[in-house]
Amino acid sequence: MKNLQYTKAQCRIHWWVAALVAGQYLGQNFMLAAMDRLDKTLTPSFTDFLITSAHSMAGLAVLALMLWRYRLRRSNPVAVGGGRMSPRLAGLARAWHLAMYGSLVLMTVTGVLSYYTDIAAATRWHELGKWLLGILVIGHIVAGLTHWLVFRDQVLQQMLGYCRDADTIRSSGQSGD
Ligand code: HEM
Ligand code: HEM
Repeated sequence: MKNLQYTKAQCRIHWWVAALVAGQYLGQNFMLAAMDRLDKTLTPSFTDFLITSAHSMAGLAVLALMLWRYRLRRSNPVAVGGGRMSPRLAGLARAWHLAMYGSLVLMTVTGVLSYYTDIAAATRWHELGKWLLGILVIGHIVAGLTHWLVFRDQVLQQMLGYCRDADTIRSSGQSGD
């Protein structure tokens, strides 16, 4: 039995992950420049220490939040698209979401390997992963806006927290498939 709504915790974690991932992309040039300087000197400046620490800590926070979110996904499974999509479209949406989970794990694992080891392939995969995740997120945002502007359903609104959440729905005895 699947629910029709995400819980408040699921929504909050979703937006924390989105904000942290956006920060990683916005700060990527600072990170690359800091790593470049670190390769040339043995003693990092305080600024470079802050930049690299912020990038790696934020990346690890994304991993922790995604694993938590994935656990909640299993304890509170939600029908994609509010349960109103055709089976084919719902299958695509589910696969897309799983691909996003996978590429976030890829980014964190390759990031850690690139930062803490000399494995050159990890850095290459981290760079490739940035494009893969970027494409998945752009497609995901387009899908979210399509729900709002074309399908005119509540899928985006409920992720934004405008609708009653699953806890409220469950306590009032309603649920769906
Ligand atoms: C880096 C940014 C983002 C990531 C990594 C991300 C990831 C995800 C994942 C993995 C899910 C599936 C949740 C689950 O069932 O476990 C999801 C759902 C959702 N996301 Fe995002 N998201 C991001 C940004 C956004 C943005 C900017 C929007 C607004 C357009 C958005 C709107 C939604 C909506 C509406 C759902 C619910 C989809 C449904 O139930 O069919 N997301 N997101
Ligand atoms: C969701 C998590 C993450 C995202 C979205 C992300 C994103 C990025 C992006 C966009 C770049 C620039 C890549 C390029 O153009 O070559 C980058 C570089 C880098 N990131 Fe991450 N990152 C994440 C997690 C991590 C983690 C957890 C670490 C380490 C603990 C890390 C370490 C690095 C390093 C060392 C570089 C520089 C690679 C180089 O020298 O070319 N990243 N990251």
